Amino acid sequence: MDLRWRTVVVTGAASGLGREVALRFGRAGAGVVVVDRDTTGAEETADLVRACRVKAWSFAVDLCDDDELPLLAGRLRDLGGADVLVNNAGGWTPGEQYPAADPAAWSRTLDLNLRVPMRLTQLFLDALPDRRGRTDEPGAVVNVSSSAAVGTDPYGSPEYAAAKAGLVRFTTAMARPDVASRARVTCVVPGWIGLDRAQREWAALDPAERATLPPLVPPAEVASTVVDLATRGPAGTVVEMLLPQLRLSRANWPLKSRLRGHFARDYPSAGPRARPRPGRPVDDADATGRVGASSPACRRTVAS
Ligand SMILES: NC(=O)c1ccc[n+]([C@@H]2O[C@H](COP(=O)([O-])OP(=O)(O)OC[C@H]3O[C@@H](n4cnc5c(N)ncnc54)[C@H](O)[C@@H]3O)[C@@H](O)[C@H]2O)c1
Repeated sequence: MDLRWRTVVVTGAASGLGREVALRFGRAGAGVVVVDRDTTGAEETADLVRACRVKAWSFAVDLCDDDELPLLAGRLRDLGGADVLVNNAGGWTPGEQYPAADPAAWSRTLDLNLRVPMRLTQLFLDALPDRRGRTDEPGAVVNVSSSAAVGTDPYGSPEYAAAKAGLVRFTTAMARPDVASRARVTCVVPGWIGLDRAQREWAALDPAERATLPPLVPPAEVASTVVDLATRGPAGTVVEMLLPQLRLSRANWPLKSRLRGHFARDYPSAGPRARPRPGRPVDDADATGRVGASSPACRRTVAS
């Protein structure tokens, strides 16, 4: 898919990985719709994307509010429809995690990380035939999962791990020909990403502890993988990014050449295992309104 003149929707793009992804699409020539409940951050991202001389819009949406999703779909229709959807918004719900957490709290984590991407994908598929412009190719959906999804170690937020695992399986299940002919649904599964917050947490770690952990995954590398998946990832592709290895579910996929240094063919059953640690949720009510998504308990391997 040639991204010029396309419209890409990125959820959770007011900050973190979502902002990186939005910028990467903007630099590739796509118009970008920034969707986030953080109005200020979303507009900042849109401004950064506009500096790439492409169009950008910011929509303030609480994705966990069921009533807001059809409204978002309506706004997208007014823009002429979307060609790419990146389901990036995600993270832990602050406070206690399952089983200590209140059912409403852990249900919210399941919603944000699994039900919302499924609902947005459904709305996206429904709207594809009404897209203005180039409808010669299928649309694309890229889901952002986490290495929490693929590990077998204990994990601090079972509901987050379960939702992200569900997102991976949702992706592969959607490779059915009747769906794939309308949209290629793919997924990226990053390890602990070297965003600003992670860099600070990393720097604060005891050196001995740091030495036991795999390196942080560069945000730019995750963002460019998302763009590659959107433009040419075959339906059902799942890319796990847990440096130093990186595995793809389709061995001959062209990404292989770009990621030549990190590519391996096998499922990472033999990958290095970080010892289990509880992850650290970030306070939902902080100034940025960001949801914590650090996942230091990730197994630092790459799976497919
Ligand atoms: N940070 C990591 O190390 C890491 C590792 C693996 C996977 N991931 C995944 O990558 C994605 C991005 O992570 P991040 O660290 O950039 O997260 P982040 O917390 O920095 O950003 C998440 C964004 O989503 C928005 N958001 C949260 N809930 C929302 C809601 N209900 N409605 C609208 N917007 C909402 C927040 O406002 C924020 O801008 C998430 O899906 C996360 O699970 C992150």
